[in-house]
Amino acid sequence: MTQDLPTGFVFGVATSAAQIEGAAVENGRTPSVWDAFAAVPGKIADGSDPSVAVDHYHRWREDVELLADLGVDAYRFSLSWSRLLPGGHGPVDQRGLDFYSRLIDALLEHDIAPWVTLFHWDMPVETMMAGGWLDRSSVDAFETYASAAGEAFGDRVAGWMTLNEPVVHTGYGYALGIDAPGLTLYGGAFQAAHHQLLAHGRAVSVLRSVAPGVPVGIVNNHTVVRPASDRDEDLLAAGMYELYHNGQYAQPVLAGGYPEALAMMPGAAMDCIHDGDLEAIAAPLDFYGVNFYQTTTVVADPENPNLPFAFVEPADVPVTDFGWPVEPAALTEFLVQLAGTYPSLPPVYVTENGCAYDDVVSQDGSIAPDDARIAYLDGYLDAVRRAIAAGVDVRGYFHWSLMDNWEWAEGFTRRFGLVRIEPDTLDRTPRASFAHYRNVIARHRASRE
Ligand code: FCB
Repeated sequence: MTQDLPTGFVFGVATSAAQIEGAAVENGRTPSVWDAFAAVPGKIADGSDPSVAVDHYHRWREDVELLADLGVDAYRFSLSWSRLLPGGHGPVDQRGLDFYSRLIDALLEHDIAPWVTLFHWDMPVETMMAGGWLDRSSVDAFETYASAAGEAFGDRVAGWMTLNEPVVHTGYGYALGIDAPGLTLYGGAFQAAHHQLLAHGRAVSVLRSVAPGVPVGIVNNHTVVRPASDRDEDLLAAGMYELYHNGQYAQPVLAGGYPEALAMMPGAAMDCIHDGDLEAIAAPLDFYGVNFYQTTTVVADPENPNLPFAFVEPADVPVTDFGWPVEPAALTEFLVQLAGTYPSLPPVYVTENGCAYDDVVSQDGSIAPDDARIAYLDGYLDAVRRAIAAGVDVRGYFHWSLMDNWEWAEGFTRRFGLVRIEPDTLDRTPRASFAHYRNVIARHRASRE
């Protein structure tokens, strides 16, 4: 079982700034696209906004104690771009720098390796006003930000992650308008994807020069795509979706080019690709981050002029409260397929994986053990073990998430935490899954000592 994971396997948990910090207008921070988007009525399921989130900005010491109690080797969190560089361009705000510096130092005091994501979807509003990821100037803005972060924290960070899930940010934020910044460009969102990937490539070289020796990687969301039937049109739609979701982001980074068939996406214009871009995007990486939550079952959607595919829930598969199918074997399948497709694949970390389940609270206020989350965690860790046994170089696993948090357009309606957050008081209460993960980590460590 998990004792069979390799020595040195990294156990972690992950969070992101906009989802936990709050303190949206404190100490110089300027708004991000998510503050602006949440202010538009109807955009967030429960009408909430991220201005307080789970108040990590003020309760970070307690959260570091929770991490220490959990016994994780590493903690993946993101920086708020506009807390470090107000307005997106700076100058660096000393108060923002001090906040993250204290957090990093406290983690290191507890032997927890800080893994830092630069962009987890919270672009400063001013950078968005200049065109956001649709405009090439965003690449320079991101380079400035990466350089500032590298100089401030590069002496203590254990790993850099340039971008989090550009496929979801581009798809939900620029193509479908479900997430911030709320644009509905469909295929025309390609240029937002390209500029993010270019920003990633440039940031890799900036980070390497200002913070030599710190591993750098990217975090992509991946899925196993299944056609809903063996009808030709469904097979074709599933093939397109495979290229859209997986290939569009893995291939340029790991093999230096986009899948050619992407040009067939309605509205896609590839002329934002300039000479030299593909080389920059394919900068060799120290690791590759995979966020894996679910499989995707695809049907053709010939009536839809904007998207050639649509999604259905698979039959006979249990789903989380989010409706996401629980199929641990798919993670093994994906990792084996990834390693087979890209011979240059660097070591892999599963940088996010987790599940949304509500608590069962009895009348006396006690909370039933979250057995479904425990089973999920065990299943997916075992899937990682199987991928390693099949020859894939997976070095670590970060569970999403340490604690319940502000789940983007779903507001506070989805609970992903090993730690429950009380809605009114924001008090933290570790769930049974927290104790379970702690045991898993401790057992693995003991078996190696
Ligand atoms: C991922 C995001 C993360 C969180 C989880 C549930 O797509 O990276 O911020 O929302 O889903």
